[in-house]
Order: sequence, then structure tokens, then C-alpha cells
Amino acid sequence: MDKFVIQGGIPLKGEVKISGSKNAALPILCSSLLADDPCTFENVPNLNDISTIIKVLEVLGVKSAKKGNKVILDPSKINSYEAPYDLVKTMRASILVLGPLLAKYKKAKVSLPGGCAIGVRLIDQHIKGLEKMGANIEMSHGYVMASTKGLKGAHIVFDMPTVGGTENIMMAACLAKGKTIIEQAAKEPEIIDLANALKKMGANIEGAGGSTITIEGVKKLSGSTHSIIPDRIETGTFMAAAAITRGKLLIKNACFEHVRSIAEKFKAMGITIEEKADDTILVEGTSRIKPIDIDTAPYPGFPTDMQAQIMAIASIADGVSTITETIFENRFMHVPELIRMGAHLTEKGRTVTVRGVKRLQGASVIATDLRASASLILAGLSAEGTTEVRRIYHLDRGYEAMEKKLCKLGAKIKRVRGGL
Ligand code: EPU
Repeated sequence: MDKFVIQGGIPLKGEVKISGSKNAALPILCSSLLADDPCTFENVPNLNDISTIIKVLEVLGVKSAKKGNKVILDPSKINSYEAPYDLVKTMRASILVLGPLLAKYKKAKVSLPGGCAIGVRLIDQHIKGLEKMGANIEMSHGYVMASTKGLKGAHIVFDMPTVGGTENIMMAACLAKGKTIIEQAAKEPEIIDLANALKKMGANIEGAGGSTITIEGVKKLSGSTHSIIPDRIETGTFMAAAAITRGKLLIKNACFEHVRSIAEKFKAMGITIEEKADDTILVEGTSRIKPIDIDTAPYPGFPTDMQAQIMAIASIADGVSTITETIFENRFMHVPELIRMGAHLTEKGRTVTVRGVKRLQGASVIATDLRASASLILAGLSAEGTTEVRRIYHLDRGYEAMEKKLCKLGAKIKRVRGGL
């Protein structure tokens, strides 16, 4: 297993270009299953999670071609309706083939994703929505077995705004007969990007980005070309890198609107954030970081996917911060690792109280999930001495060329291959 070795204490400086969004690309690549002919996707990040979803699609019979950040998917010869456990267990987002397969081919067998480091992560809302649209669904031997005589539009009210649930139902509804209304839909930018990609294929969708989405089913969808939006969590993570190292970064190819709630909290911590022209954000750290109180929330609130990173910054703030995780039950696994680096953190229920220290100290730490890895790397970049972040395969799932980008900004970070 690869690890990163980081020499901390260097203020990062320069320009960094943000890659395409992982969480937008994953459902959008799955949406190709709905089309009759090849779809071209641009600005697709090179990540392990993207390779996994392409493998899932290939197992179903999709032909794929990849060149740099462009992916072409040809769904015209689908010959299987089964997403197997071996692939799905490595990435939960594989469940996003369920809606499209059911809508287009009237059957699907998708492995239940199983355990996840950050929480239980049920899919009951996906199932409830598809059943309301006329699917017969059974759980059998660890698989979701679904079939239908033909999906029909339905009025679906989610119990909570679920990103994956909204995506699965929105894709299924594109080829269902009649009108589907999704209430309490997730409003994340990735939902809007998926709707835009589907519309280019001929879908009839209104209201994406709001809490009610209306989809009028169409008979067929055709191939199209779509470019994926910038990754807002990668953007936020580089904003955090400038803040925690007290550096100055120009973050390019970013969408300021998508990181507004992150920017507001950073500004309240005394960090300078300026929206520049040409999709650029300027971030400049401060010598005196102010403490902050944060509750994670669905978009447009402060994202759970930035909770671990902002905790690393709060660890060196001048005062006491509180960070409350409201989306996932078990997303504090970075806490004991940050404590090993000298952070003063007290976890009680869903809230961590952070008493800022002057400096973190380099240590050996273990990454437990994607965003926890990012938090530990940020902590290592600011810490005194050497930090080893182990098990960075989590990071490779979701950040494109992270260490190369950081090196270009002056960081001393190196990947060591193999080992525990
Ligand atoms: N939930 C249910 N039932 C459902 C669906 C969700 O109870 O049927 C609960 C979940 O257990 C969770 C909450 O609702 O407590 C929100 O889950 P949601 O469905 O919105 O999350 P997701 O679609 O599984 C996506 C991202 C996550 C991100 C969350 C929240 C992708 C591929 N993943 O997950 O990204 O944290 O939305 O914004 O889009 C990451 O990138 O590190 C990551 C974990």
C-alpha cells in the first residue's frame, strides 16, 4: 500500500487547476446506459473510482474508449444486467446503474454495496422510488433483484434529500412513461450537471437544483457530448491547503458559486478569499486563524465532504471551534489520527470540539477514507517535521494527481510505493 511522506511547514504558493468532479462524473457515466448510441464525456478526472465505474459498465456490455480526460461510452450492445459484488463492494456509487438498467432494459441485478467506513448509507429511498414507478424489487443473496413491465411516472417524496437517490430516480424517470415528480430532491451541483447531461441526450427535466424536480419521460435518448463540472470538493481542499499552510493560491478552473458556503466559513476564519474572473479563486492564508462553528448540511450548506479538511485548519486556530457532522453517523475517523499529530479534539456524539494549538507535529497516521486522507495530508503540510500518511489508496479514489499538484505549489510530498 502506498504512503505519502510530507515535510511540513512550507507555505504553498502558485496556481493549481481543478479537475472534473468525481461525484458528477460517476452518475453521468452511468447515464450513458440510457442512450441508444455512443456518448462522449469530457473533463472526466483520472481516478480509481472512475476506472471502477467504467469496469462496471463494461461488465454490462458497454464499450469504452478513453483518451486523457475524454471518455467515450457505447451502450448499443448491452448484454448483461448484473453489477457484481466484486466491483460494487469497492465503490458504492455502482448502485447508480440500477435506475438506468431498469428503465431501459426492464431488469437489473445489482449487488448491495455492503459496509462503508463513514456510515450505514442505506439505499431504501432509491428502492422506494423505483417501486413507486412500478418496479418489483427483492433483496436476495446480497443482491437487489429488480424487474418491471415498464416504469411509469410517479410522485416521489424522499424522506431526506439523497444525492444518489435523486440521481437514480431522475435517470430512471427519463425513459419512464409519463411524468415523475421528485420532492425533497437533493440540490447539489452534481444533480444539475447530471440533468444537463441527460437533457443533451434528449431528456425532459425541469427544476434540477431545486427541491422539486419534474421529469417527463421520453421514448428514447441519443448519444451526446458533455463536459463535467469542476470538482467543488477538490476546490475546497486546495482552498484549505492555502489556509492551513498560510500560503497564497490561485485556484483555476473552479466554480465559485459551488464553494460559496465553504468560502463563507473560510472568510469567517480570517482567510482571504476573492472570486476572480475566468473561473479563478484567490485564497490567502492568515497568521491568525479564527475559530469557527460548523454544522454540515446538504447543499447549499457546508458539505460533509469538507468536514475533515476544515477540522485540520481549526486544529491550529486561535480559540475553540465546534464541528458537527449531520449527514453521516461515523465520519470522524480522522479525529484520533489528528490527535496523534498534536490536535486537541474532543468527540461527543456528532460534535467535535477543537481547541486550537500553535502547531501540529508530524507523525505516522493512517487514512481511513477519502476525505480523512485529505485532512491528514493538509495537517501534514502544516505540521512541524515529517508526516507519513499511510493507506493513501483512499485518496487515489477521489483526487486526481494530488501529490503532483501539491509539489508544483512548493510542497515537499513524496509517494512511497508498497509497505503497510
Ligand atoms: N440515505 C438513506 N437512505 C437512502 C439514501 C441515503 O438513509 O436511500 C442517507 C445516507 O445514509 C446519508 C444521507 O442519507 O446519511 C445522505 O446520503 P446521500 O444519498 O445523499 O449520499 P450518497 O449519494 O451516498 C453522495 C456522495 C458522497 C457525499 C454525499 C453527501 C457520490 C458518489 N457520493 O453520496 O461523497 O458525501 O453524497 O453529500 O456522489 C465523497 O466524495 O467522499 C463522498 C462520500
